[in-house]
Amino acid sequence: MCGIVAAAARREVSEILLEGLRRLEYRGYDSAGMALIDNEHNLQLHKQQGKVCELEKAQKLHPHLGCTGIAHTRWATHGEPSGVNAHPHISGQRIALVHNGIIENHAILRKELCAAGYEFSSATDTEVIVHMLHQYLESGRSLLAAMQETVDRLEGAYAVAAVDVVHPDQVVAARKGSPLVVGIGIGENFLASDQLALRQVTDRFIYLEEGDVVEISPSSLQIYDASGAPVERKRSLISEAVEVADLGGFDHYMLKEIHEQPRALAATFAQAADHPVIDDCFGAGAAEVFDKVKGVQIVACGTSFHAGMVARYWLEELAGIPCQVEVASEFRYRKRVTHANTLLVTISQSGETADSLAALRNAGDGEFAASLVISNVANSSLVRDSDLVFLTRAGMEIGVASTKAFTTQLVALLMLTYALGRRASMTEKKQQEIIAALKDLPDYVQQTLELNDEIEQLSESFIPKHHALFLGRGIQYPIAMEGALKLKEISYIHAEAYPAGELKHGPLALVDDDMPVVAVAPSDDLLEKLKSNLEEVRSRGGELFVFADSKAGFSSEARVKVLDMPHCPEVIKPIVYTVALQLLSYHVALQKGTDVDKPRNLAKSVTVE
Ligand code: F6R
Repeated sequence: MCGIVAAAARREVSEILLEGLRRLEYRGYDSAGMALIDNEHNLQLHKQQGKVCELEKAQKLHPHLGCTGIAHTRWATHGEPSGVNAHPHISGQRIALVHNGIIENHAILRKELCAAGYEFSSATDTEVIVHMLHQYLESGRSLLAAMQETVDRLEGAYAVAAVDVVHPDQVVAARKGSPLVVGIGIGENFLASDQLALRQVTDRFIYLEEGDVVEISPSSLQIYDASGAPVERKRSLISEAVEVADLGGFDHYMLKEIHEQPRALAATFAQAADHPVIDDCFGAGAAEVFDKVKGVQIVACGTSFHAGMVARYWLEELAGIPCQVEVASEFRYRKRVTHANTLLVTISQSGETADSLAALRNAGDGEFAASLVISNVANSSLVRDSDLVFLTRAGMEIGVASTKAFTTQLVALLMLTYALGRRASMTEKKQQEIIAALKDLPDYVQQTLELNDEIEQLSESFIPKHHALFLGRGIQYPIAMEGALKLKEISYIHAEAYPAGELKHGPLALVDDDMPVVAVAPSDDLLEKLKSNLEEVRSRGGELFVFADSKAGFSSEARVKVLDMPHCPEVIKPIVYTVALQLLSYHVALQKGTDVDKPRNLAKSVTVE
């Protein structure tokens, strides 16, 4: 998704800006640009559709130098990916501006600005911001006041940064709804949408709060809150080593991340051993909150939503705690009835997903007993805004399709089930089973990874297909959903998941000899029911791909291919079966020749609504 990097220094900053953009590349984008104020106080601009390396080539061919600058990677929302729509946007050859987010009232503002004589060159919502800023500056406002008045008029979400040739050593910026961080240097200051972009130049950061406006120069840094009053915000030192994005011998980040799961799962669960009681893994005060919790409301998007769906089975079946799960984009706008003492749980790998963040922020006063986030990114907005935090130890995830983040979220959710279940109806025996299963989980995942070659063989049958159905029952239904999501997002094969019992209520009409049907079929209480559903598929000529352990009693035959999964404890089957489905999608995508790590149209961190 869009990325911002900005610098105000006494040294030439074009390489710092480009390196910052490179570090944000994995999030997904379609165009990139950079504006610098040169020694003669002129704006110098490069922007174009395509990758940051194209921007680098343009910079090599026609170097633009300057000590103050802004840069951007754009993920198109308003207006197609193109050089014209790429940021920075310019007004009056005076101001350049970059923006993350969406301005909802851009059409009205555009009309006003057109009436005032501004000409628009792009189809973006962003261009209204730069012209409005220009209008306020030309009417005599200071850079700071012009930015404050501009953002006051904006409806929607934004992180913006701008430079002005009349104030050649300053960058002014603001945020609401989209993240922005200040990087504090020595005799230089920076801004970025993620601290990761600035770890090359500093380890000292200030996370801006909602409505903040900031002005930086090489020697100064002043933040103003939404009311315009100067404020001091907390400074954070981030000293842990930056993980280097490195393929480590794998062909793709996704494959590397799939193979990192035994380590990531073990590290996530190992937090339990670092604390006297498991409750402490969820942050200070978790025990008191858990003592009063009577129900759980989970809110998330995409793959994280699927993790929530799995957790509902665990929380209700194992812990006896009522649990609701909803996608954040619906939850945030719905009038709700919430029972007393409900814990709000958001799940978000990035911790920046706009809908999940809005769901948390829109929760009514006193509606929930407390909020808990399960995230992979310390210092993310959801982490900073939640009462309780569980940090998964997946390590940085680069592949857009989430793999290790999902399975580590499941570990966190099983730990939550254990923590709440101990206080409810969970037996001592069940508690011990959960802990033992979590300990053994990395081994079962490793055994599943060793099925890679068999899975690769299965994947060949999917290459000529345009559609696929994924079936599961009970707790395996959300795993079927996750399998279908992985397949569609990276191979572009249309895939849907159904609870197998629903087949005869409609989707069975789709089944013919051209429709591969993937069944998540471990031996469990619902297996016999699932087998009947699979017979319905077979008798209509459908081709079955069954992921099952030996106890389930399937065998490969004409139009039925069985992948022999390890037999593992019931409670961790959703995690173990997920890994096999991840490998299936990976191999299908690989053979179809899609961009596995950066599937078209998608972004790693979805910071717009
Ligand atoms: C799919 C995927 C997305 C994310 C979703 C939420 O593989 O990664 O569906 O799960 O965009 O992202 P987070 O977890 O960062 O809130």
